[in-house]
Amino acid sequence: MSIPTRIAQKPKRALHRYRNFFLTFFVLLSLSVTIILTSYLSSLGKTVKRSKYTALTLDNVNSPVVKQIAINSPSANPTNASCNYFNCFNIYRCGNQGNKLLVYVYPLKNYVDPANVPVTNQISKEFYLILQAIAGSSFYTSDPFEACLFIPSIDTLNQNRLRVKEVSQALKSLEFWNDGENHLIFNMIPGSVPDYNTVIDIPVSKAMIAGAGFSSLTYRAGFDVSLPVYSPHLENYKRQAQNRRNWLIISSQININSAFQQDLIEVKITFPNDLMVLGPCYHHNPMNSSIRCAGEDVYNYPDVLETGTFCLVIRGARLGQSSLLEAMAAGCIPVVIADSLTMPFHGVIDWIRAAIFVREVDILKAPEILKNVSRKRVVELRQHGTWLYERYFKSIQAITETTLEIMSDRVYPHLARDYNYWNVPQYPGIVPSLFLPVTAPKTRGFTAVILTYDRLESLFILITKLVKAPSLSKVLVIWNNQRKDPPEPSQWPKINRPLKVIQTKANKLSNRFYPYDEIETEAMLSIDDDIVMLTADELEFGFEVWREFPDRIVGFPSRTHIWDNSSICWKYESEWTNHISMVLTGAAFHHKYWSYMYTTSMPGDIKEWVDDHMNCEDIAMNFLVANMSGKPPIKVTSRKKFKCPECTNTEMLSADLNHMIERSQCINRFSSVYGTMPLKSVEFRADPVLYKDVFPKKLKRFNDIGSL
Ligand SMILES: *[C@@H]1O[C@H](CO)[C@@H](O)[C@H](O)[C@H]1NC(C)=O
Ligand SMILES: *[C@@H]1O[C@H](CO)[C@@H](O)[C@H](O)[C@H]1NC(C)=O
Ligand SMILES: *[C@@H]1O[C@H](CO)[C@@H](O)[C@H](O)[C@H]1NC(C)=O
Ligand SMILES: *[C@@H]1O[C@H](CO)[C@@H](O)[C@H](O)[C@H]1NC(C)=O
Ligand SMILES: *[C@@H]1O[C@H](CO)[C@@H](O)[C@H](O)[C@H]1NC(C)=O
Repeated sequence: MSIPTRIAQKPKRALHRYRNFFLTFFVLLSLSVTIILTSYLSSLGKTVKRSKYTALTLDNVNSPVVKQIAINSPSANPTNASCNYFNCFNIYRCGNQGNKLLVYVYPLKNYVDPANVPVTNQISKEFYLILQAIAGSSFYTSDPFEACLFIPSIDTLNQNRLRVKEVSQALKSLEFWNDGENHLIFNMIPGSVPDYNTVIDIPVSKAMIAGAGFSSLTYRAGFDVSLPVYSPHLENYKRQAQNRRNWLIISSQININSAFQQDLIEVKITFPNDLMVLGPCYHHNPMNSSIRCAGEDVYNYPDVLETGTFCLVIRGARLGQSSLLEAMAAGCIPVVIADSLTMPFHGVIDWIRAAIFVREVDILKAPEILKNVSRKRVVELRQHGTWLYERYFKSIQAITETTLEIMSDRVYPHLARDYNYWNVPQYPGIVPSLFLPVTAPKTRGFTAVILTYDRLESLFILITKLVKAPSLSKVLVIWNNQRKDPPEPSQWPKINRPLKVIQTKANKLSNRFYPYDEIETEAMLSIDDDIVMLTADELEFGFEVWREFPDRIVGFPSRTHIWDNSSICWKYESEWTNHISMVLTGAAFHHKYWSYMYTTSMPGDIKEWVDDHMNCEDIAMNFLVANMSGKPPIKVTSRKKFKCPECTNTEMLSADLNHMIERSQCINRFSSVYGTMPLKSVEFRADPVLYKDVFPKKLKRFNDIGSL
């Protein structure tokens, strides 16, 4: 495709601009007078280095002609593929105005070679709009000495419209080029015949590229910005309110490679009523890209996409295709068939919420895959795609501003917007937590984190029991023994879930709460290696309860704390009472976030104290969660005995009396660190619906719930 429209219009608001110009001029003049006076007075005649800078003039008709592109002038160095944010970006240029990203745009110039032949075609409308958007944004600065980011005013959007070597020379000649450092090069159509590179072929040294059609091999994560291919068809396009979507799938690209074209014909034969294949209109005007034809029928484009539920976005000669934005604008769910494509604004936009991805080898299966998508998900995908389009893609201006916002988030990570900001419509910022949707998703399941030292026998029994819980997604064994290595992989039980063993460097209890990268789920089940009595039903039910209360500790062994009038201090209590205030992490579900907080934000010396005394890490965790959430834990099921199910009342055997005293001391110690008693009591327990009802067993969901 090409970006055909060009700018030739005269600036309309010249008067206005002159007024601004004079205003700026006078402000700067008075400023420099002040500066000169001040510096004169203070340092006796030291001159001011900085000259004044006027705002950018986007008048490309009268821009000065630069003739310096001589045949032998040196090009910029090759684009450095190993550049990343840390080795090629100079953060020290940023921060001249607090936490604001300041962007400088070079003045427009016409670069010509010695024979007066231009090195780029006339500036494209799209590039003009990009410069205009930057100059009009809050990020813009006219002072290159305070700028953090530099935008060359050389139109590099379409590689086909420029001369690679000469443009690279022009870049190198820029006043602040400095090997491309902190420069951002915009490009939407990279590569050229025959092999179509997925990144613009101009050597740009250390510059970053905001480009469309990156592949995962050429995109430098955290450094480049992945753009969409803008479609000129969308400039004046408005979606009709209601259009019946009679086609399951529409293919509308006219540049699909022949192998995929063959596949589509095959699919069309198998599913004639599901797929519409549009092509150029050979019997009208094949060059007119605002019409498309299927056989004899002529359709307006992109309007015809409104009649499809799914629209194919297939790799062509280039990876990036304008059909992505066209589909989204028409409310047609994009089906991306381009394996290595880096999607627009990769890293901030979650495309799983708005598009379907089909592997190239599965293109023949596409109709079956798409028929499998539920009605509910179709509605969600379409709504989300429409929202993404309106927010990030509906104009060159929106695309440009999003690009700068992403750069700003990188430069000031402490102020960076999170996943919700980028991906949740009407993200309300901070709302009363009462109204937050609190049920956590079921799909990812939970990670069982087992702390063990050397009790291999019960550890192996526990692992084989855990995998019977359907929602278990991974077992992570924290091997806290430095004197003995964990068993060879072949000796572990054979299970149908991932099992990972981490040997720790020191035998500390806090290791069980380290937020390991291996924990990929939100939910984790902290469990001791000897808790082998829990059934699969109990575990699964516990996880379901956690999903309803994802901010709390949800688990099996409960305890409480009581105030002892005689000794005037808190007492740890494991007797059966009507209330509980702690659920022990020897067998409890909790959010990974709490592990993170335990590791990083435990008040006072509690964390170190626990590691030194090898006790009370579970009480410390209960204090932490209760203080931060203001809520009590949740006890699930009636089970009360854990360590030794056969014997009675083990905890009160005399050997354990010391244990109880030490636990009471922990409570008193921790509450003095907090300066208050954060634990909350509750008279509440969660049991499955129909738990004790006289009802046929096979109709109950959780039958195997232990009684004590
Ligand atoms: C690419 O950049 C890195 C980091 O600045 C540098 O170490 C490396 O030498 C550069 N490579 C080339 C070919 O310039
Ligand atoms: C393309 O076709 C549309 C619809 O028939 C027509 O309005 C438009 O003028 C055509 N454009 C060109 C460049 O021929
Ligand atoms: C469609 O869904 C069913 C049930 O979930 C699944 O078994 C089947 O493999 C799916 N088909 C395709 C093509 O994905
Ligand atoms: C503890 O002492 C307070 C005040 O001294 C008294 O009101 C309360 O009843 C006592 N509680 C018990 C359980 O003895
Ligand atoms: C307890 O929670 C409150 C409210 O979240 C917080 O302000 C306070 O710093 C916490 N206390 C400690 C010791 O962490």
